[in-house]
Amino acid sequence: MAITADEYKQQRLLTGLTIDEIASQLGLSSRQIQRYESGETIPKARDLTALKGLINIKPVKASLKKSFTFIDLFAGIGGLRCAFSSINGQCIFTSEWDRFAQETYQANYRDNRLPEGDIRPFSDKPKSVPDHDILLAGFPCQPFSLAGVSKKNSLGRPHGFLCDTQGTLFHDTAKIIDAKKPKAFLLENVKNLGSHDGGNTFRTILNVLRNELGYHVDYKVINAAGWVPQKRERIFIAGFRDSNDFSFENMKVLDPAKGPRLGTILDDKVDEKYTLSDKLWNYLQNYKKKHEAKGNGFGFGLVGPNDVARTLSARYHKDGSEILIKQNGKNPRRLTPHECARLMGFETKGDEPFNIPVSDTQAYRQFGNSVVVPVVKAVAKHMEPYLQRDLVESLQAAE
Ligand SMILES: C[S@@+](CC[C@H](N)C(=O)[O-])C[C@H]1O[C@@H](n2cnc3c(N)ncnc32)[C@H](O)[C@@H]1O
Repeated sequence: MAITADEYKQQRLLTGLTIDEIASQLGLSSRQIQRYESGETIPKARDLTALKGLINIKPVKASLKKSFTFIDLFAGIGGLRCAFSSINGQCIFTSEWDRFAQETYQANYRDNRLPEGDIRPFSDKPKSVPDHDILLAGFPCQPFSLAGVSKKNSLGRPHGFLCDTQGTLFHDTAKIIDAKKPKAFLLENVKNLGSHDGGNTFRTILNVLRNELGYHVDYKVINAAGWVPQKRERIFIAGFRDSNDFSFENMKVLDPAKGPRLGTILDDKVDEKYTLSDKLWNYLQNYKKKHEAKGNGFGFGLVGPNDVARTLSARYHKDGSEILIKQNGKNPRRLTPHECARLMGFETKGDEPFNIPVSDTQAYRQFGNSVVVPVVKAVAKHMEPYLQRDLVESLQAAE
């Protein structure tokens, strides 16, 4: 199909490159590009394809960016939402069934609607989900995480896709993708999703997304430690409805060895209630000794301002054992909820704080279940040029 001069120019502008830069990238003369843009010559199909290839790798100029809509499934406290709002996205539907998470969500994002609860009635009737450009879902990881798997196994129950409760939530997500055909999706999960059940779970997921739903899919495990002082590895699965050459391979991932240290997120003065009681501190020390004697590496993680924390888990409220902060002449302490907010990149020291309207217990669970916002922002930025190209193309098709 022939393209008009205006369309060629629009595509060229989307690359963020000048006529001279495009000419040298494509091995054409600047005059040739000018002729395409003035309508003197109809662009050759192969020159157009090559031009579109450059859109993929170049950031889109702010003035040309189109806004888009997204839905936030298994929304938790909106970590994925924060990132996609930061690239011009508008959240039009939220599903999160935990009332405490809903409370935090509503305290931080202004919507003229309430979050919906259980996603399953919606996936049964996907028409009730509004049309959207991007679907975001951090579907619950428990059936796929090591902890979840061993717990379910020990209870003699099936797990993953055989589990008839949480394990099917991926299928609910897939049903919505199938019915609504968003331009793109981003799914997030624990790193262990890739190896669960000898890789079968992940193979099934990829098979559904690629072969049953027909999306171009790539995935990557990213360690958050380049962005925040926390080792936190999560798998991100990005999919595009229209075929493109999106890949995580060329995404700029910050070096975990060069990331910030805990000093950047710790408060100077902290309420005494966060200091561990003698009873709990003795218990944790004895527990560690017992396991070390058996040759197991289990135990608490004791850290200071120059260290990087272990992964914050949803069970941090129980004993705080994975991240204990050293204190001079005192038992160590837990992180405060606001320190957790910083550890997850929801707020930075000195800036406007993230609203935490719930109890400490609920707040720890919510942050431990969430995503590291700057990591998702980097993923969103990496997806953005591809998404923008799809948005422009669908606008052109609608004209
Ligand atoms: C791993 S967390 C996702 C956290 C989120 N990405 C964030 O940034 O905070 C999964 C969330 O799914 C919610 N959830 C689990 N089952 C659900 C269901 N059937 N419908 C709606 N939400 C559900 C849980 O309450 C939990 O908050």
